[in-house]
Amino acid sequence: MSIAQNTETIAKLRCIACGATPDSAGQSLRCAACGDLLEFFFPGWPPGSPVFEPAPLKALWLKRRTSRDALDQSGVWRFRELLPHIPEEHAITLREGNTPLYRLPRCARAAGVENLQAKHQGMNPTASFKDTGMTVAASSAHQGKFGWVACASTGNTSASMAAYAARGNMHSLVLIPEGKISWGKLSQALDYGALTCQLRTDFDGCVRILNDLVRQKPVCLLNSVNPYRIEGQKTAAIELMEQLAWEPPDHIIVPGGNLGNSSAIGKALVEMLELKLISRLPKLSIIQAQGANPFYRCVREFGGKKLEPMTADTLATAIRIGNPASWKKALRVLQATGGEVEQVTEVEIAVAKAEIGADGIGCEPASAVTLAGLKKLRRSGFVKPGESVVLILTGHALKDPDFTIKFHRGDLFAGASNEAEAAQAKYLQRAPVVLDANLGAVIAALDGAERTSK
Ligand code: F0G
Repeated sequence: MSIAQNTETIAKLRCIACGATPDSAGQSLRCAACGDLLEFFFPGWPPGSPVFEPAPLKALWLKRRTSRDALDQSGVWRFRELLPHIPEEHAITLREGNTPLYRLPRCARAAGVENLQAKHQGMNPTASFKDTGMTVAASSAHQGKFGWVACASTGNTSASMAAYAARGNMHSLVLIPEGKISWGKLSQALDYGALTCQLRTDFDGCVRILNDLVRQKPVCLLNSVNPYRIEGQKTAAIELMEQLAWEPPDHIIVPGGNLGNSSAIGKALVEMLELKLISRLPKLSIIQAQGANPFYRCVREFGGKKLEPMTADTLATAIRIGNPASWKKALRVLQATGGEVEQVTEVEIAVAKAEIGADGIGCEPASAVTLAGLKKLRRSGFVKPGESVVLILTGHALKDPDFTIKFHRGDLFAGASNEAEAAQAKYLQRAPVVLDANLGAVIAALDGAERTSK
């Protein structure tokens, strides 16, 4: 038996635009009245309620880490007081969450800040942050007795969904852009038994087809428009605050693609403040790749009034997204926390990724936009040298080894328009050395490396 919660959390759905409060979400997961996104809110959260007394609640969450129960061991479900209630028999868990917080000393020097840490969401069971949202959304699909779950993906959502569907005895359908996701992610979806369709389009094209499909077939949509995904992904921020002894950093920096993750982390911060679990809000900033920057343009060019979809292109394929579904939610949390939005070039991403690797941590390219963005936010003065910063690293380095190998061999930008700009990254490149199998050759290589490292 898991360590009991005091109550079953009452969660209700609400449209983010018109405020309608439908009893259920329907197949499209959008508001039936105006078509915008839905979110959960918690009418039973009056400040001062004994259930949400900060100190005992924090102690309960910590105690669950020592439990032998699967749900207590999950870094998502141990915070279940802040999640919609799902009966235990439907919960599908791979013991997600509980991810490490690492100091990044070399990256801190490169960025010009004293206190830099990374919460590595790539240390989840399928090696990306998606697992924290997927455990909740897949469990709700199980509770809803769905035989099939489906998503459009740049690779990580599909890997995660396929795993959780398999664990919950559901079939999974994956729509991915052909040739534009990493082999690591594709191989995961196959391994976990998904019906994997590589569509000759981009991510945004896959989303369009999926939206039409769910109107005709009884499949449960598990993209981040699914409000259960957002609730699960909130726990990364809750756990981060726990790791920081509930003392918020000055800044949290996240990559922005479809903008579900930034929305979730921001929602958690606002809710934690409301429940007096923390006493102030960190600034939440969102970083996009310059070639996939619709949200950056929405804020900087259009004052947040509209989002103009674009054809996205970046080597950080996870965030190659031109029409992000959750832009209004992300805008709201950006405004609530006083965060910034930035864009970074392909070379800046590659350099930042190598720097995170050189700190012995590593991440996939999309995660590295956070460090690249931090450097820009330092230069603009938005982040001060003495302020504390946490980067959210969203995916594991092994998700996209192709990018890493090409970078270190010096092939990543060969022949591209940014080849000259990429010369600045040379000092970070560590190409493999091919030698004859004799001791003298290895010793010569070692001596050479020692000389250059002095
Ligand atoms: N980082 C990684 C590694 C991702 O896989 C994604 C999104 C993001 C950042 C951006 O997060 O979309 O919540 O703003 N990947 C999705 C997918 C779209 O299909 O795997 P977001």
